Amino acid sequence: MRRFGRIFKRHGPLPQSGEPMQVIVNTNENTNGTLVLPLWQDSKNMAPGSESGVHRSLKNQIENILVEGDFKAKAGTAMTLAGTEGGKALLIGLGKEEDATPQVMRESGAKVTASCKKIHGKTLTVKFHGMEDAYMAAFVEGMILRDYSYDNYKTKDEDDDSDDRELKIHVTCEEEKHAALETSAETSSAVATGVYLARDLGNAPPNDLYPMEFARQAIEFGSAHDNVDVKVINYDEARTMGMGGLVGVGMGSYRKPCMVIFEINGDKPGPSPCIVGKGITFDTGGISIKPSPSMDEMKYDMHGSATTFGVMQALVASGHKDRVIGLTCMAENMPSSNAQRPGDVITTYSGKTVEVLNTDAEGRLVLSDGLWYAGTHLNPSYMIDLATLTGACVVALGHEASGLWSNNDELLNNIKEAGEHCGEIAWPMPLFKAFEKEMTDSKIADVRNLGAGRWGGSNTAAAFLKQFVPNMEGTDEQIPWAHLDIAGTAWGAKTNKLVKNGATGIHVRTLHHLITGQ
Ligand code: BES
Ligand code: ZN
Ligand code: ZN
Repeated sequence: MRRFGRIFKRHGPLPQSGEPMQVIVNTNENTNGTLVLPLWQDSKNMAPGSESGVHRSLKNQIENILVEGDFKAKAGTAMTLAGTEGGKALLIGLGKEEDATPQVMRESGAKVTASCKKIHGKTLTVKFHGMEDAYMAAFVEGMILRDYSYDNYKTKDEDDDSDDRELKIHVTCEEEKHAALETSAETSSAVATGVYLARDLGNAPPNDLYPMEFARQAIEFGSAHDNVDVKVINYDEARTMGMGGLVGVGMGSYRKPCMVIFEINGDKPGPSPCIVGKGITFDTGGISIKPSPSMDEMKYDMHGSATTFGVMQALVASGHKDRVIGLTCMAENMPSSNAQRPGDVITTYSGKTVEVLNTDAEGRLVLSDGLWYAGTHLNPSYMIDLATLTGACVVALGHEASGLWSNNDELLNNIKEAGEHCGEIAWPMPLFKAFEKEMTDSKIADVRNLGAGRWGGSNTAAAFLKQFVPNMEGTDEQIPWAHLDIAGTAWGAKTNKLVKNGATGIHVRTLHHLITGQ
């Protein structure tokens, strides 16, 4: 066993991407490095006030271009100017002023970092003028979020520094808006550390990121912060405790399953928000094996756990003072002689039995133990689970929104609003009684892990999870709970302009905003 272990175990930590770029907010009129000019559509001149500190020849060149209509500043467009004695500039189109939204501004900010090439250098100055606080904040947030790429596994060409992400961005605005912009930029940077971490975990190859490696990173995170406690329930403990869902899914893999519990500010009184993540570090489908095409994408099947960890990081970085809980259910779903079979009946941590009709519907099994443990041991005010749970959710909503189910209208609305605020849409989906009935009519167990037919697959999955939400102590009412199916939003959304490729870090910002109001 030991010798075999050496074949795949990494020695030392997984490579991680760096810190978010430096953003310096100032009112000084100098232009450091390349000038970045956000422009409303069809502007004929630079916004009054933004010309200060810009060399006359560059200003003339910009105004000529605008007067001639050579750059119309439509949303999503950019133009680079170089070769004048007045320095370089990057013009960014914001679209029509009347169509502006925070999301348009985020995407415009993202266009800056996406457009940055060697020619622009490492230092830029964005000049805002006459722009409202929320729009400037969103633009800066977009620049930071798009400035991420996962190239940890690429061998570096020592002669080429084009992929070095060490941008330093100065941002200038009117003096009276300075303080607010500085605060929002600081928050964006703090939250971005959580988004980056979630993306790093999501992008990590599954041979390196397996359940106990995730746990190791979580423990390391706990050791690095006085206000964070991390507890790991390992495979043997999960078996002893009767976590049949987690054990059933994970036992077919040499890399054994575990549950990771994060507690931030545990000395503060509960009840507290609790985030629960599906963490399947690779989903082959198990004995109900998946087809080969795109199976590699199932490394992202742990993005619920990546987001959970990312939210913890974001809360710590932004200095959150209240208690928050995170719980991740980690397993690798593999076919093997020790894997569970279609037809097996398992007993979950709740005591309820489940007929496993398809081993590829494994996310709900690990979450059944996670939700029950969180609800009965961790004193949650509410629980929100995140899971790349069903292909059916991608059929329903594409890559534009996560599915959102809840047993509590207030919680559902709060999550929906937080998602809208952050440009991470969570779309309400139904928890009809008929779906619950469908999932609880197994002939031989309490619950079945597969719907009776193929229709409404994301709804029946949510109805399954609802069976494992405990009641509030001393009542016959369930703990407020919501489920986010992030199968379509966790990676690969071509329309997500805040991500170059790969894992998105979806809902780290939504949940940070929901919990902190920031
Ligand atoms: N991880 C998958 C869901 C998934 C599929 C996410 C494609 C993103 C893209 C999940 O474990 C799964 O395989 N679900 C099955 C459920 C079915 C067997 C009831 C599915 O969606 O096909
Ligand atoms: Zn599966
Ligand atoms: Zn899965």
